[in-house]
Amino acid sequence: MQQGEIAKIVDQVIRERRSVRGFLPTTISSEVILEILDVAARAPSGTNTQPWQAIVVTGAKKEDLSRELVETALDPARDADHSQEYSYYPDRWIPPYIDRRRKVGYDLYGLLGIEKGDKEAMERQFARNYTFFGAPVGLFFTIDRVMGQGSWLDYGMFLQNVMIAAKARGLDTCPQAAFCKYHRIIARHLEITPERMLVCGMALGYEDTSLVENSLRTERESAANFTRFID
Ligand SMILES: Cc1cc2nc3c(=O)[nH]c(=O)nc-3n(C[C@H](O)[C@H](O)[C@H](O)COP(=O)(O)O)c2cc1C
Repeated sequence: MQQGEIAKIVDQVIRERRSVRGFLPTTISSEVILEILDVAARAPSGTNTQPWQAIVVTGAKKEDLSRELVETALDPARDADHSQEYSYYPDRWIPPYIDRRRKVGYDLYGLLGIEKGDKEAMERQFARNYTFFGAPVGLFFTIDRVMGQGSWLDYGMFLQNVMIAAKARGLDTCPQAAFCKYHRIIARHLEITPERMLVCGMALGYEDTSLVENSLRTERESAANFTRFID
């Protein structure tokens, strides 16, 4: 294949990947899941440490876990018992990040017809995270606690590869930090040992194109606006 054609295909897969929040129940074989994880593991990592570990949850185990997570998320008394293990977001928000965060929220809730201030509807939509938005496959990713900050950088590359390899096979994903708050429940259901930390979850499946939330398209700053050339 010519270089130009390769670039076109790779760019297209990268551009077409997006977070999907509504899936068809169509199942995915373990072989395909392993193929995706195998190619994703070609991600670089400092001194080839490969700090990733994946758990694939399907069927009744996934249903059980989802049930407890949704119940917990929607019950303030039970929810109060849980907290994040690592801070994904800054303690103090500043522009332009806060503006971008708000925009994606307004856009998603806008598509769903959820009015600003309708906390209950927002919480219900957020709780859909815990059923993997209907995806047949739930992925969880863990890291050994001894690993340093650099390994989290490696992890991000691996996760992007998972999403790109899935997209190249006609599958969609949603990376999900929403699970992190309930790491104790997840550890109990999936027998995650204490020396490992939950990095995030991820929904994997075929997009339900009939759902309005999947028409969300997020924006990006152009490279010229975040890049400086120094000669
Ligand atoms: C590590 C990570 C965690 C995320 N967690 C969630 C989540 O819990 N729920 C969700 O709906 N989207 C989640 N997202 C998706 C982001 O909202 C999304 O990537 C961003 O808005 C850009 O949109 P796009 O992925 O469609 O390009 C997460 C993304 C990343 C990279």
